[in-house]
Amino acid sequence: MSLAIIGGTGALDLFEVHERRSLDTVYGAPSSDLARIEIGSTPAWFLARHGQPHRIPPHRVNYRANIQALHELGVTRIVAVTAVGGIAPELVPGSLVVPDQLIDYSWGRVHSFSDDAESPLLHVEFAEPFAESARESLLRAAERARVPVVDRGCYAVTQGPRLETAAEVRKLAADGCTLVGMTAMPEAALARERAIAYATLSVVANPAAGVSAEPISIDEIHAVLDQAMGRVKQLLHALQV
Ligand code: HPA
Repeated sequence: MSLAIIGGTGALDLFEVHERRSLDTVYGAPSSDLARIEIGSTPAWFLARHGQPHRIPPHRVNYRANIQALHELGVTRIVAVTAVGGIAPELVPGSLVVPDQLIDYSWGRVHSFSDDAESPLLHVEFAEPFAESARESLLRAAERARVPVVDRGCYAVTQGPRLETAAEVRKLAADGCTLVGMTAMPEAALARERAIAYATLSVVANPAAGVSAEPISIDEIHAVLDQAMGRVKQLLHALQV
């Protein structure tokens, strides 16, 4: 079993890097070099979803190249860090969540490996979009590291890069979503198509639009993410690979 971490906004310097590998795939280049890291003393891989330095917006990430590159490295489990806004009132800034469901509101993204006549047509099963095995490993790591996390939640995937309107967030809440971010799809579905067990650790950076009376400040988002990364790091280092 081989593990990869996909780092999101604010999650670049979580591990010491032992080697960098630049890979290309038939779908193009991944967002960043693949960095070989260690968790405990077991080798794992790290990929920066938005590039290193951070420059690729969520709707422009080559999700297929990223998942394909990890697949070619033999990765069978992915833990992806995602920054999100909190919709449910208990998901205050700084909360960590391991969601169990999602609704995809993104559009126009290349979202499947089944995209031409040569590729096999895969109708993957996706009732549970996050692999329970990968979610469990995150929850157990949180326990070991004594880092509080919220188990379960429904992740609304929006297109971005703009944040939502207050009315959009009210609709997401009415749909049953408890958090909103821009990157879990098509990442989760592509991982499923490549039979990789995928789960996400979502870091609540702000109350979603309209949830708090205060306007959302990007500086505040970065400050919250910076503050949360210590706990994210502790948790990820406690993963059993
Ligand atoms: N909405 C969507 N994505 C996000 C947010 C948000 O409020 N905060 C961080 N990523």
